[in-house]
This record gives sequence, C-alpha cells and structure tokens, in this order.
Amino acid sequence: MNEEIAVQADTWYRKAEQKAVQYLASLQKRVMEQTDLQTLTNDFQWWKKGHVHHFWRSLLPRSSKSADTLGYHRYISWLNRTGKLEDYLDRSISYIYMRDLGKALDSPDTQVRIKQTMSDVKKLLLRSTDAASGDQPDFMNLAGLYRWSQKESIEDAVIWLIDKLNQVASHIPKGMNAEHAQRKLMKIIIGVVLHVMDDMDDNTLSDERSRRLDEAIRLGYSYGLTYPFIDDLLDSEILNAREKEQYSQMIRSALLTGSVPKPGKWNEKHTDFIHYVYAELRDAFEYIKSYQRPEAINTFFEQSYVFFHAQDLDRVKNLNNSTYTNEELYLPVILKSSSSRLIVRSVISADEDEGFEQRTFYYGIYNQLADDFADIFEDMKTGAVTPYTYYLKYRGQRAELINPYELYWTVISYLIDNVYHSNAKAREVILNRAINGLKRCKNRLGKEKYTEIMDIFATGNPEFNRLVQRMVEQADDVDFLDKLLRDQVVTALRNSRKEKESFIDTIHSVRDQLNAQLQIRKSGEISTVTESLIDAANYSLQGDGKRLRPILTWAMGVNEYGLPAAAIMPLLKSLEYMHTASLIFDDLPSQDNASTRRGQPTLHQIHDSATAELTGLYLIQKAVEEQSSLSEFDAASVLALIRYSSQKAGEICMGQAMDLEARGKALTLEQLNTICFYKTGAAFEACLVMPAILAQVPETEIASLKKYAYHAGIAFQIKDDLLDSEGETSLLGKPVHQDVENNNSTFVTLLGHEGARRAMWEHYCLAMETLNELPRSNVFLKQILNYMVSREK
Ligand code: IPE
Ligand code: IPE
Ligand code: MG
Ligand code: MG
Ligand code: MG
Repeated sequence: MNEEIAVQADTWYRKAEQKAVQYLASLQKRVMEQTDLQTLTNDFQWWKKGHVHHFWRSLLPRSSKSADTLGYHRYISWLNRTGKLEDYLDRSISYIYMRDLGKALDSPDTQVRIKQTMSDVKKLLLRSTDAASGDQPDFMNLAGLYRWSQKESIEDAVIWLIDKLNQVASHIPKGMNAEHAQRKLMKIIIGVVLHVMDDMDDNTLSDERSRRLDEAIRLGYSYGLTYPFIDDLLDSEILNAREKEQYSQMIRSALLTGSVPKPGKWNEKHTDFIHYVYAELRDAFEYIKSYQRPEAINTFFEQSYVFFHAQDLDRVKNLNNSTYTNEELYLPVILKSSSSRLIVRSVISADEDEGFEQRTFYYGIYNQLADDFADIFEDMKTGAVTPYTYYLKYRGQRAELINPYELYWTVISYLIDNVYHSNAKAREVILNRAINGLKRCKNRLGKEKYTEIMDIFATGNPEFNRLVQRMVEQADDVDFLDKLLRDQVVTALRNSRKEKESFIDTIHSVRDQLNAQLQIRKSGEISTVTESLIDAANYSLQGDGKRLRPILTWAMGVNEYGLPAAAIMPLLKSLEYMHTASLIFDDLPSQDNASTRRGQPTLHQIHDSATAELTGLYLIQKAVEEQSSLSEFDAASVLALIRYSSQKAGEICMGQAMDLEARGKALTLEQLNTICFYKTGAAFEACLVMPAILAQVPETEIASLKKYAYHAGIAFQIKDDLLDSEGETSLLGKPVHQDVENNNSTFVTLLGHEGARRAMWEHYCLAMETLNELPRSNVFLKQILNYMVSREK
C-alpha cells in the first residue's frame, strides 16, 4: 500500500472510531451507574401487563402455542383464529422498520407504511396457509418467487438471481456452510429490496418500480456476496494464514483505490474456487460502483472500508491474549455491526438521511450482543473472541472488563430513551424482542446451560435478573415473524439440499442398474448381418445418455406405486430403446444432420444412413418385445400399456414431422408449444403414465400426471433450445448451434434468450403447481423439474 492510501485508510477508520468511542463511553458510564436497570424495571412493570396473564388465567391450560410445536401453517392459522395475528405482525413489521430500515416509530408516515405492509403480509401469509403445499410457505420456493417476479415485472432479474444462487451453492467448498451462505445472501437481498420499496410510494410509475426492483435485486446480490465470500471465507479454515492475508489485501486495495487488483497466484488446491469468487466479487464491485451517484461513491468506499477493517480487527483477536482493553473489544463490534446496515443505503445510492444514520449507528451493537450471547458456547469451542467469551475467560483477573450482558441491557435502555425518545411503541417492540431473544436462547441451549451462563453474567443485580427471568418464563406473545421465516428458510434449504442429494443418488444408482442391462445380447446362432445391427444398436445405447426417461419411470413405479423393480425392468429398457431410436432418426442427414451424439460420432457417421434407419427400427421393435414381456402384471394392463405406448410413439413421429415442416417459418407460440409437446413432452408423459397403468392408478391422477408432463416436457425442450444456443459442446455431448444452422423454429428463435427463459419458468411454475393436485409427496417430480431447468447437459 502506498503512503497516500494508507493515510486515507487511517483517516476513514479513525473518523468512524471517534463516534464509537463516545458511544462506548456513554454506555460504559451508564453500566456503572446502574440507573438503566431502574428505568427498565419500571418499563417491565408496565410491559408485563400485556404479556403476563393474571394468576387465575395461568391456572387454565396454557393458551400459548409455538411455531416449533405447530409447524408453520398451523401456527399462522392459530394466530389468526385467536386474534393474535394483528399484534404479531405489528410487532414484527415495526421491528423490521426499526432495525432494517432505521426508522423511528413515532413518525405518522412510518405508521401508515407499517399498517400497509402489515396488510400485505397478512394476505400473503393467509394465502400461503390455504395452499396445502407441505409445511413450507409457498413464497419460499422458486415457483412462488417467480410468480412474484411476474407481478412486479422483474422476471429477468429473478431468473438471473436464481442462476446466481445456484452457482453460489455449487461453489461453496466443504468447510463452509452452504445453507447459511444462501440464507445470508437472501437476507441481504431482501434488506436491499425493502429499502428500495420503502423509497417508493403509490405515485411511483410501474415501469419505474420494476426498474428499481430489478436493480435492487442485482445490487442486493452484489453486496450480499461479501457475507459468504469475504467474511465467512476469512472466518473459515479454507485458506491458510498467508492466503488470508493475500485475500484481505486484495479487498482493501479494491476499497481504497476503487479498482479491483489482479487476481494473483493461488495455491493449486483453491485456484478454481478463488477464481470463481474473484470474478463474482469483481463484477459485483463494478456493478455497485456503476450504480453510485458520483457524489455518493466515496461514502460507499469509506463505509465499506470501515466495515471490512472493523471485521478484520475483530477476527484476528486471540482468546489467549489477556490484555485487550474494553475499547479494543467493543469498538470494532460497534463499527462492524452498524456499518453492515449503513452500507445498504449507500449501496442503493440513496440520499443521506441524518436520522437513519444516527439510529442505525446506535442500533447495531444491540443485535450483535444478542447474537453473540446465544453463540457463546460455540464461540468458546472455536476460541473466537466475542465480548462474552472474553469476559467469561478473564472476568476473574480483570475487574475493569465490561460485563457484556449488563451492557446489553444498557443498550436496550439507551435505545428506548435516547434513540426512540421513550416512544411507547418502540419500547414495547424492543422489550418484546429482548425477552424473545432470551427465550429462544434458553430453548436452544437448554435450561441447564442457560442457567449456567445466567449465573455468570446476570449476578450484578439479582432483583432485576429475577424480574427478567420471570418474564422469560411467563411472558407470551413475544414471537417475531422474521425469526419464524429464518427458521423456515434454514429448514427449507436443508431439506431441499437433502432431497437433491437423494435425488442425485437415485439417478446414479438407477442409471448404473439400467446401463448394466441395456445392452442387447446376441443369441446363439447369429449371422454377421444381424450381429452388426445389434452392434450398431449397442453403440448408440452405450453413449453417455442421461437416461432421464426410464429413471422417471423407476422413481414413480418403484418409489411411489411400490412396483417391484425387477418386474418393471423391461419397461425401463423399452423406454430407453424408443428414445435412443428417436435420437438416431433425429440426427440423420434428412433431419437435423448432426455429427455427434452422447459424446461420440452419430451412428450414420460411423456407418451410413441405411444402417442408422434400420437400427432405429430395430430398437423400436426391441422395445415392443420388452413391453410384451412384462409378465408379472395382468395381461389387460400390459395390453393397455402397449396400445398407449404405440400411440405416443406415433405422436413423437408427428412431432418430428411438424418440427421439420416448421423450418424457416414464423410460428405462433401456440404452434410451437404443440410441436414441442408432441416431439418431446409425449415421451415424458409416457414415462409417467406407463407405470401408472401398471399400478392401476385412478384416471384423475393420471390426468394430473399428463398435465405435469405437458409443462415439464416443454420446459425440458426450452432448456434444450437454450443449451443449443449457449451451452458447451464438451458438456452436452452433441454439437451446439444446430438449430441456427438448420434454420429450426425453436423457443430461442421465436422469443429470444430472455423470452425463452421466461417461457421455461412459466412452464416450470405450471408443472410445480400441478403437483399440488397430486395426492403423493412428489419429491422426485419436483427435483427432476429443478434438474431439467438448471442442467448443463
Ligand atoms: C434429447 O434428449 C432430445 C430431446 C428431447 C431434446 P436428452 O437430452 O434426454 O438426451 P440423452 O438421452 O440424455 O442423450
Ligand atoms: C428432438 O429435439 C426431439 C426428439 C429426439 C424426439 P432436438 O432435435 O432439439 O433434440 P437434440 O437437440 O438434437 O437432442
Ligand atoms: Mg430435431
Ligand atoms: Mg436434433
Ligand atoms: Mg435441440
């Protein structure tokens, strides 16, 4: 770092630190005087009227239920039924206005907005409890997110975000927590979106609103990335000490000079990951920068630097160092916790707002002290220095150390009196939150551990502590929506990761079983001609196909309908034979004229068209042979299956004919949908319906499966069209840009890339929504749909 830049860094940090010094000094003084405890005691006397019920009522069965015991949907319904939902939303939304938006609750304008938000959120929550989609709010899945984006006309930004989040998840190395990385990212994005929403009102034109929300999503992602990829990464053990230093220098340099330095050299082990992170952060930095008003850009750099440096100072502390002063302990905490929220407004390049800055500055440490308290045992284990772990270790020998738990209550009192000017509503909400925090902590740690830490931290004023513990025991109606959503998001992410892993396992294991049996065996006396046709068929079958169609049939047949795996093996083989035949025909010079398929030269390239055609026909006959040997099922079902199968194969032929006929023509979307359903969707329908026929599933269920297959099939083909245009041959195993060369009419040629992507997501949503009609869990059908739209192959 050159001299000038070092001076700059120092000036910025000192300026921020000065304010923190004053804040800490006044808090420290109040801790000593203990006057806040008296005020808080009075506050609680007043507060408890609304939260602790009279003695006689406490004899009745306890009326309070929790989201933990009821689950999300029943909890929200219960709140609604018992008339508690209004209050619940009021305290939750008010809290978010204070913490995330830095508002004071006494402003009439804020009150109006809180009411408005409450009514919107209420509608959303109640609507999602109606839709019986498992115990997860429907706005928390991709289909719900996409539907919202349609309402706001920000589909492209949301599609962009979904891709980005997938990339992040797939790049998080072991040793970092992927769910938390995703959750934090989403939290930051929501925070930025909320800020932008709050900046708009009913007079904002809808185009303007869409544009700003689109930007908020991209800005939110850009800023949010710093949580997993800067803070968490440096906290983890992925990089060694020297690499961490190199990495930190890179960040500093970008923030101090305004331009991103070269990536430098990295240990072999991490090069791929670091290069991904580097490119992502660089783009993010450039994006935020390009969005800044010229007069605001320095504030952004300054705040970001203070944030980074405060975190860095905090991170490098060592629990074995016994000499940290209170200032050394607390100033970085005050600065990092406040600047993380202050930056949100700079990121969106909002005007300066004195009130916001003051409130947010004082607020930060409250959250930090609450979080660190709950994490104390974990932090002790990893040797992290937080005010709590440090006090725990050195309280005996360092009488002057501030007790962080006492500081916590002092901050609460300071916020109520000095920041929110004793506003009744602010007091109510903050006390709710404080008691809720302790309740959650007690739940998480268990009574014993909780008591153990209370005995250490809360001895200074036994009377006040008794009061607080009574509130923790007895007070009701202190729950918050953001906590519920947080738990839901973590559970949802964890479940979906597990589901995805088990989906991938299934795919691999069924694919292996199938591949082992797919090759056509040669019978005893055989002539060279038949032999070479069988070889040709086996050549096409041995290619690197995904085997999605038979895998789908296996998952439905075996997992959902309980059919014996061995008994349906002939059906699985028949499906892959027919599909492979369709690819052989599709690749012929008379059709798509493709040179490679499944990572190897196409059959007509190896032999000639005649051999390819005959092999295709041969495979179709083999398919019928397999189907008619489904001997463990009743004959009528097998006949119905064969009849249905022939019809579908006929439809695929018609689809291919229509596809070729459509070359060079301007189709309507409806025509294109029809063609794609026939050429691609029909095969997916067959995979779902054939096991259902064997399992004698009711017609209504089959009708829903067909509807799902229709949309999933089209989504699959749209992805195929997109991959043809922007995928990679090495991954695909077939040539790219075939569609343009052949002058094909595809979703990309008709709608363009963005339009095709939107159409794909629309069909994705329609297919997902159809699953709610089905009586089963449908996890596999959900996962395969996710796979279809996110695949690279
Ligand atoms: C390709 O199907 C033909 C289309 C319907 C687009 P797949 O993409 O499933 O091909 P393989 O079986 O994995 O090779
Ligand atoms: C082919 O669609 C559909 C069938 C094989 C029935 P495409 O022509 O787009 O398939 P690819 O891209 O060659 O696999
Ligand atoms: Mg084709
Ligand atoms: Mg083709
Ligand atoms: Mg294609």
